[in-house]
Amino acid sequence: MTAPHPPAAPVQVLELHDMTVDYGPVRAVEEFTGWVGNGEVVALLGSNGSGKSTILRAVSGIVPMAAGRVAFCGHWIQGMKPSRIVRLGLIQIPQGRLVFPDQSVEANMLLGAHSRGRPDRSVRDDIAELFDRFPRLAERRRQPAGTLSGGEQQMLAIARGLMARPRMLMLDEPSLGLAPIIQQQLFETLRSLADMGLGILVVEQLAHLALTIADRGYVLDRGQLVAWGTPDELRSSGRLVEAYLGSDRT
Ligand SMILES: Nc1ncnc2c1ncn2[C@@H]1O[C@H](COP(=O)(O)OP(=O)(O)OP(=O)(O)O)[C@@H](O)[C@H]1O
Ligand SMILES: [Mg+2]
Repeated sequence: MTAPHPPAAPVQVLELHDMTVDYGPVRAVEEFTGWVGNGEVVALLGSNGSGKSTILRAVSGIVPMAAGRVAFCGHWIQGMKPSRIVRLGLIQIPQGRLVFPDQSVEANMLLGAHSRGRPDRSVRDDIAELFDRFPRLAERRRQPAGTLSGGEQQMLAIARGLMARPRMLMLDEPSLGLAPIIQQQLFETLRSLADMGLGILVVEQLAHLALTIADRGYVLDRGQLVAWGTPDELRSSGRLVEAYLGSDRT
């Protein structure tokens, strides 16, 4: 269903209203409502199979919604093609740090600017700026991306996403397979990107780690929203911590 009017002037960068997603007879997400504000990091938490990745896929337009609406920066985006959603500035960083392994670090970053049309001066300026932000990538700019460490590839995947000049990033378990110290750095990077005004929605198994930098979190169980709030609010529920937030506390 497409809404007849654009949503009211957006207060939040992303708003999900009663999102329901089915895979055939399997209901993966049921009437999820939530939002991400400008400059906010929001963590999407919950046990395996609870629907977290499905929510990201549905927002990106990769899987259709059975019901509900999604507003992004003043546009209704439910039913839109993924490529159009990307052009509006909503970027999902692919899971598993998918970089083009044979291409150089710099070439991977150029590919991230694809949705901006022909490369121009501003693309070069953005690459220079991102190399300032990620000095390890700058040092390895001519190296094939496949030879980077896991943490470096994750940074490259994020840098490539930023080349599209997004207003919001979504990430699905970005910490997977990374050493604890690199996981920490990764989340600090996400925090600093949000502090520059980006909205960030991050799915994470390491709930305690995510909650060290998140502004708010949503907790899912079998497709249902079971809790939401600030990190302190979520942590203060002992039952919730035990049931859904895992034991990654360090
Ligand atoms: N393509 C698909 N076809 C059928 N069912 C699917 C498909 N993808 C996901 N599901 C089901 O939808 C539910 C939610 O899956 P989803 O991948 O969103 O969970 P998740 O919270 O991301 O889990 P995890 O933490 O393990 O990544 C699960 O029951 C899953 O089996
Ligand atoms: Mg998942």
